[in-house]
Amino acid sequence: MNISNGQLWKYSSFIENKNYSFNKEEILNYITIEQIDEAYSTISKWESYEATPLLLLNKLSKELNLNQIYYKDESKRFDLKSFKALGGAYAVEKVTKGNKEITVSTATAGNHGRSVAWGAKRLGLKCKIFISEFVSEARGKAMQLLGADVIRVKGNYENSLIECIKQSTENDWQIVQDVAWKDYMLVPTLTMAGYSVMMKEIVDQIKNESITHIFLQAGVGGMAGAMVAGVARYLKNIPKIIVIEPDSAACVMKSIESGKIEKVQIVRESLMGGMSCGEPSLVPWKILKKSVNNCISLPDDDIGKAMKLFANASFGDDKIIAGENAAPGVISLIACCNDEKIKNLIKLNSTSNVLLIGCEGDTDQEMYQKLLKD
Ligand SMILES: Cc1ncc(COP(=O)(O)O)c(C=O)c1O
Repeated sequence: MNISNGQLWKYSSFIENKNYSFNKEEILNYITIEQIDEAYSTISKWESYEATPLLLLNKLSKELNLNQIYYKDESKRFDLKSFKALGGAYAVEKVTKGNKEITVSTATAGNHGRSVAWGAKRLGLKCKIFISEFVSEARGKAMQLLGADVIRVKGNYENSLIECIKQSTENDWQIVQDVAWKDYMLVPTLTMAGYSVMMKEIVDQIKNESITHIFLQAGVGGMAGAMVAGVARYLKNIPKIIVIEPDSAACVMKSIESGKIEKVQIVRESLMGGMSCGEPSLVPWKILKKSVNNCISLPDDDIGKAMKLFANASFGDDKIIAGENAAPGVISLIACCNDEKIKNLIKLNSTSNVLLIGCEGDTDQEMYQKLLKD
């Protein structure tokens, strides 16, 4: 079977960052080496900690004529099935510092809240989770099962965040948010330090190979920023960094284009729910603005198809459970390889070692099954 076949893999826009100027020292001012190292030393001691697999998509790399495609499989992250487990739960531990009286709270599209709820449960803390009307029942239920009070708010993610801040201020709850704003930078930075554990594991897993390209999904940019910080901390070389977003919520792309934080109005929620965010977060933005080479945006069209090909072991030898937010890496890579101009511009060729982040498994099992069927 020819998986990558021309027109079938769509992208909407592709841009180059005119302000690109990667600077390791500057990046490590926003998240320090100490913060990155402390996150790894803490999380790697958690009971049930294990590095997630780094798989090879060998069938796809052969077809695209690339040297290697690595796929970091976060469907195996604890029992939460997403990289998000590294961030929220770690931040809960750091901010509560052993105080069992604290109630933690957060607003979430799903996976971050699950991490906070799980972190609170680990430490025996009370937890309040605010979700918008677009978050599925299954995702809400998953957080209730972890012992959290789940509060549904009318409107979108932003409305759930506003309500979370309001109630948390009134009740003296400790907000553990993955999004940063002007006076709220430490917790999101700790969350990102948690995510950077992925890069430490990858560096240990690839041994002496060097990564040439990294495709990073972005919602508010936390994961992408954390991985770039991981590059600055752990890698000797500087790979090309390509940020992926849904075309309905390409806020990092719009910001990279203009050189300053831009908001986009989300009129249609993407299937890639975790990435459907209208504005980059402040800490990630500082990191991303000069270190991202390119941005690509995608429609939802090929998500289900890519998930199915992962499940059938069509990209490599392993059957992979890849959720909606894990699929766009492979779609972007194929789309870039199918476009000669882009392929040449970002130098994707037979010497390339590409890293894709399989950031979640079937975190919403109902949705996963539905997308595979459709
Ligand atoms: C599975 C998954 N991948 C990627 C993202 C995007 O991460 P960020 O918002 O940190 O950019 C999210 C966000 O919730 C997510 O849940």
